[in-house]
This record gives sequence, structure tokens and C-alpha cells, in this order.
Amino acid sequence: MKIITIIGARPQFIKAAALSREIAKHDNIKEIIVHTGQHYDSNMSDIFFEQMSIPKPHFNLDINGLGHGAMTGQMLEKIEKVLLSEKPDWVLIYGDTNSTIAGALAAKKLHIKVAHVEAGLRSYNMDMPEEVNRILTDRISDILFCPTDTAIKNLEKEGYNNIDCRIVKSGDIMQDAAIFYTQKEQKPSIDLPKKFILATIHRAENTDEPKRLGAILEALNKIAKETTIILPLHPRTKKIIEDSSFNIQNINIIEPVGYLEMVYMLNRCKLVMTDSGGLQKEAFFFKKPCLTMRDETEWIELIENNFNTLVGAQKDEIINAYKEQNYQLNYNIDLYGGGTAAKKIIEELKK
Ligand code: UD1
Ligand code: UDP
Repeated sequence: MKIITIIGARPQFIKAAALSREIAKHDNIKEIIVHTGQHYDSNMSDIFFEQMSIPKPHFNLDINGLGHGAMTGQMLEKIEKVLLSEKPDWVLIYGDTNSTIAGALAAKKLHIKVAHVEAGLRSYNMDMPEEVNRILTDRISDILFCPTDTAIKNLEKEGYNNIDCRIVKSGDIMQDAAIFYTQKEQKPSIDLPKKFILATIHRAENTDEPKRLGAILEALNKIAKETTIILPLHPRTKKIIEDSSFNIQNINIIEPVGYLEMVYMLNRCKLVMTDSGGLQKEAFFFKKPCLTMRDETEWIELIENNFNTLVGAQKDEIINAYKEQNYQLNYNIDLYGGGTAAKKIIEELKK
């Protein structure tokens, strides 16, 4: 069996690392990795391939820094060429980025089967580029690997029981990664205090909206007076902050770090504050509470079980949630499959 894996953005490298390790155990499966180039700085791309021993991409399409239309369009064109020459049995795609929809669409038009890992998630906010990408990708996928029961229910609500596709509850591949790579954690090059908050901000709805980004930064500035905040800053947010008059005080901003440094910090931080999709789950995997600076989330089981709180992008709401956070949570519940997703995904692809 020949699989072409399409990846391009940071969280996809982490997910592919876990699945590629499992694929490599099967002599009868050949995986060809296509890197679209969406993320390209060495600390947004190369570092993950090196640290996590992801096989070197067979193709690097080097498409980045463009608007949605140009980026997705160029990916579609170049991925199609690769698929025509490689003729895979499956195209494997992850999540909800522009690389995801481009990979799915290129494959489907060539009648190549599409497997979508992290299918069925919904925020029900159609202003998010990710929501558009994931809905369209799900609809043209042949196997939909759902991480959670919620994802399966979302698909059922949209009538997927009457659509010709296979829906499989695989669990979450990110938990496979978290479990495996925690043994390899690496101390970052900064000094970490005993008590600190790990924060990230990169979601377009926050970075592209000065009012929201301003309120988030003001709240973090205030909280950081009391508890150190370490913020590995996504290049998107960095560019916007540099071009603006936002006043950053107290927050310890660092360059993006590799996954092994993230795991080290996740293992030791007191609290996670983020708008990332992946980090909300990692907070749970590493038994840390999370405040999510968004108005909705795809991972509602974390909210229902009080592991995560949606705090939006208003200064006072964020600060109050930080002050009121309960740190005595019982993490003894299996929400994401416990690290068995890679095995389940491969079993299904072989059927
Ligand atoms: C993308 C995904 C988002 C995901 C995120 C993960 C889409 C629509 N969005 O958002 O769902 O959560 O990746 O991190 O696919 N940039 C650099 N260096 C890099 C990468 C990006 O400077 O290595 C710059 C780009 O040039 C661009 C900006 O950051 O100006 C945004 O990059 P882009 O890939 O378009 O979107 P992300 O915000 O990274
Ligand atoms: N991450 C990382 N280095 C960083 C920030 C994040 O390795 O400096 C990891 C994080 O631990 C998680 C993944 O990147 O595994 C999440 O990616 P991101 O937040 O960029 O995207 P999202 O999950 O929101 O799509």
C-alpha cells in the first residue's frame, strides 16, 4: 500500500510524527511525505523533523506567505502533479489548514481515496478559515478518523450516515505524540521559574482583530506581574505586534520552540493560556488547567469536564478566570483514546 501524507503546518508535523512512526513498522506500507511549505522558518518546520525523527519529505512544494486563494490554489496545482506521478492508494491529511483542504481536493478530483485525520470537529464559526477547510475536507473524505465522540455526533447531525464514507473513532493522534515524546523532553534554553504560565496566541480571529489582541495582551501584561508568563510567539503574531503600538510589559516572549521543549514546559507549568487547538488538549494530557482565549472551541468535552474554560478576548474576563482557576482537577478520565490512535488508523487503512 502506498500512502501520500500531505503536511505543511506545525501541528501537522507533530501529528504526522506519531503516525509515521507506526507506519514505519509495516514493511508493506510505503509512505511518501509531501511538505507544502506552508510553515517554513526553521523553528516552525525543520526542528520538528529533526527532533521527532519524521522522515524527510520526498517533496517540498515551498508555498508560503500568500493569501488564502493563492496559497491553496498553488498547493492544489503542485499536489496534483505529485499525485499523478506517484499514484498512491491513499492521501492522508490532518486537521484543518490550507494544506489539508488542498490535499483533499487534489486527491478527490483524481479519484484517489482520502483519509482525514481529526475529522468531524466543528466550532460552528464559519468566519474561521479552519472551519471552512474542515467542513469541505470532511465532505470529500473517504475515511473520517474522528478523535472524539463529539466529532462523530457532529457528523451524524450533518447527515453523514447517508453519505458514502467510513466514519471511524480513532482517538486523538496528538495523545500518541504526547505520550511517546514526553520521554524525550528537552529543557528550553531559558531559565524557568518554579511557577509559570505557558501561553500561545496565533489564531487569526485574535491576531487580525486589534481590539481582541490588545485586550489579550493587556490581560497577560497584568497577570504576568503576579505569575511569570512564557509566550513562545508564532511569527504571525510577532509580525502584527511589531507593526503595531501594542505595549508589551512583563510577558516573557520567546521564539517558537520545538515540541520537546513544549513538552518540558507543559510538564512543569502551572496553567496554560492559549488560543491554539492542539495546546488545549495537551494541557489536559499533561494534567494542567487551561484558559482558552476564544469564544468557542472544537474540544467541548474539555469544557464540559472543567479542564478548560473559554475566556474570550476581554481583559477583565481573562483576568477573573485566571484568579478563579481551580487547580484541583481529577484527570482520571479517558477522552482521547489514551494513545492508541495511530494503531487504529493503520488497521483501518489496511482493511
Ligand atoms: C496556520 C493554520 C492554522 C493553524 C496554524 C498552526 C490555515 C488557514 N491556518 O495558521 O489553522 O492553527 O497554521 O500554527 O491554514 N509565517 C512565518 N514563518 C512560518 C510560518 C508562517 O513567517 O514559518 C508567517 C506567514 O508568512 C504568514 C503568517 O505567518 O504571513 C501566517 O502563516 P499561515 O501559514 O498563513 O497561517 P498560520 O497563522 O500559521
Ligand atoms: N508548539 C510548539 N512550539 C511552540 C508552540 C506550539 O511545538 O512554540 C506545538 C504545541 O505544543 C502543539 C502544536 O504546536 O503541539 C500546536 O500548534 P499550533 O498552536 O501552532 O496550531 P493549532 O493546534 O492551533 O492548529
